[in-house]
Amino acid sequence: MSGFCFFMASSSTAPLVELNHLTFGYGERVILDDISLSVPRGKVTALLGASGGGKTTILRLIGGQIRARSGELLFDGQDVTPMSQAQLYAARRRMGMLFQFGALFADLSVFENVAFPLREHTDLPEPLIRDIVLMKLNAVGLRGARDLMPSEVSGGMARRIALARAIALDPELVMYDEPFSGLDPISLGTAARLIRHLNDSIGMTSIVVSHELEQTFALADHVIILANGKVATQGTPDEVRKSTDPLVYQYVHALPDGPVRFDYPGVTVEQDFGPAATSSLPLKSGAST
Ligand SMILES: Nc1ncnc2c1ncn2[C@@H]1O[C@H](COP(=O)(O)OP(=O)(O)OP(=O)(O)O)[C@@H](O)[C@H]1O
Ligand SMILES: [Mg+2]
Repeated sequence: MSGFCFFMASSSTAPLVELNHLTFGYGERVILDDISLSVPRGKVTALLGASGGGKTTILRLIGGQIRARSGELLFDGQDVTPMSQAQLYAARRRMGMLFQFGALFADLSVFENVAFPLREHTDLPEPLIRDIVLMKLNAVGLRGARDLMPSEVSGGMARRIALARAIALDPELVMYDEPFSGLDPISLGTAARLIRHLNDSIGMTSIVVSHELEQTFALADHVIILANGKVATQGTPDEVRKSTDPLVYQYVHALPDGPVRFDYPGVTVEQDFGPAATSSLPLKSGAST
């Protein structure tokens, strides 16, 4: 309880997460180029942008799984990048993550999947673990599914179980990477309401990465759009919708052509298929003789 009071006392109006001039890349490739953005406390922030744009990368940077090359990444005012393993572990205890391809542990029951972070991060007595797990499963409508194995649940149910697992430790920040993918329209609406409800009732801060524009704009308080390694815009859903920036316009209006790159960087089409390439192909007529 004292921890709870401490968080309440420390909570301020400052953003819960802030990226200041952050740069990150893999090898030669820069993925995030001098990015600055903020995630307001207690709100639902949508992180949008084309596939391969670096959304999951940002979530992994916040969780400290990967480290920025330069710039700052503040979580509740503390820079994550230089943290020791022990400090990271403590920070991660305050975050929940619904992974994009977040599989459940196949050999653990639904109950044990949700209990996993509690067993890993706390030494709570078994009866308390049971109550917490059932409360979290209840929150996602799956209390009755506790004894099933992951192979016995549907894809949509698996996402909700992963969500229950992500909120097991009552995190201050929950990061949802594509929470709506593969859900039918009803489950999608339910998932969006659930995210909103969890955010508002427990006073969490949420980051939602999604390609479901309509649903996400309706859900979010704050929208950030990434494009070509930069923040194209950030603001309220209305502000972003009205943006005349060509990158934002292309994304919000789902236009196939525009300044947002579709192709993963590589050699030119001419180099692969044009005259320069054909001279190096061994199977031109007569080339094998
Ligand atoms: N471990 C890695 N090693 C090298 N490159 C990587 C690695 N992980 C991701 N990338 C590259 O970083 C870029 C950004 O990836 P990221 O997963 O953040 O994109 P995303 O915005 O989440 O895309 P999507 O919407 O498709 O999930 C991609 O071009 C990807 O190829
Ligand atoms: Mg991703």
